[in-house]
Amino acid sequence: MREYHRPVLPDETITLLDPRESGVFLDATIGGAGHAAAILKRIGPTGRLIGIDRDPDAIEHARHRLRKFADNATLIQGNFGELAEILASLGVSRLDGALFDLGVSSHQLDAQRGFSFTRDEPLDMRMSADEDTPNARDIINTYGESELADLIWKYGEERYSRRIAGAIVKRRSKSPIETTGELADIVIHAIPGKSRWRQDIHPATRTFQAIRIEVNRELEAVEKGIPAAIEVLNVGARVCAISFHSLEDRIVKQTFRRYAGHCECPPKLPECVCGAKKMVRIVTRKPVTPSAEEITENPRGRSSKLRCAERLDN
Ligand SMILES: C[S@@+](CC[C@H](N)C(=O)[O-])C[C@H]1O[C@@H](n2cnc3c(N)ncnc32)[C@H](O)[C@@H]1O
Repeated sequence: MREYHRPVLPDETITLLDPRESGVFLDATIGGAGHAAAILKRIGPTGRLIGIDRDPDAIEHARHRLRKFADNATLIQGNFGELAEILASLGVSRLDGALFDLGVSSHQLDAQRGFSFTRDEPLDMRMSADEDTPNARDIINTYGESELADLIWKYGEERYSRRIAGAIVKRRSKSPIETTGELADIVIHAIPGKSRWRQDIHPATRTFQAIRIEVNRELEAVEKGIPAAIEVLNVGARVCAISFHSLEDRIVKQTFRRYAGHCECPPKLPECVCGAKKMVRIVTRKPVTPSAEEITENPRGRSSKLRCAERLDN
């Protein structure tokens, strides 16, 4: 059977998160439950793990994988962007640690849910089909040309965003774009030949990333979820976040900096409006990245970056 997901930076994450016996820990992105199983082993029979995932498949898989820890694991299908509400509904007011392993799981990439540009499958990209939001097909076929160009630029940092948006609109005027293969083909041909295969990534990577972020409103969730976790950490407890691209990593880094008291307001403002307050110490000055050995064993984790911050006494 295919592995559901191989956790990235497993030892580094557990070392930094430092789960202690009897602790109450959050895994905000339970996925294949690899990190969660390691946390549960460390917190022991008197600890508690709260595991969240948007994807019902992940919750079902985690429930099975963690069955011997059933008394200690509370699994919730939900969006960590609503973390404050989820914790309140469980009556949890303090945490001894929190982990956010962002992005998608290998299962999601492999499950023909329209995330992959290397196979031809229906365009979807929703992490949870239960959420009543537009999927990738809706976005590709209904957004205006400039709206598409802006989102491919903003969430994909794709320099050929305008050409790609133009090519999408031209192609869909003939018939709707239905599959990942069609979209990948449009993107490849919209990028000038000399630039197409120059980078070490597939030419459609950035566009697919952008559409996926838009479909799942991924960045908004990170912007809300990490602060909500910091607010309820006990003194000395840590929050770890693993990101897979620069947009996510920037949000994690800036959130930690803001909570470490670094004001990010423009210098001309008379007073701070960014919400900076000194509530954490940044543990990882530079992000932790996978070793060459880990990348060879798990190439999908090659771009991962792990950052950690620790709650201070205020
Ligand atoms: C990289 S995987 C996590 C892997 C996990 N750490 C493991 O050990 O297997 C990311 C998971 O986060 C979930 N996810 C992404 N954004 C989410 C959000 N806003 N709320 C809840 N779950 C989310 C995805 O559905 C996916 O299952």
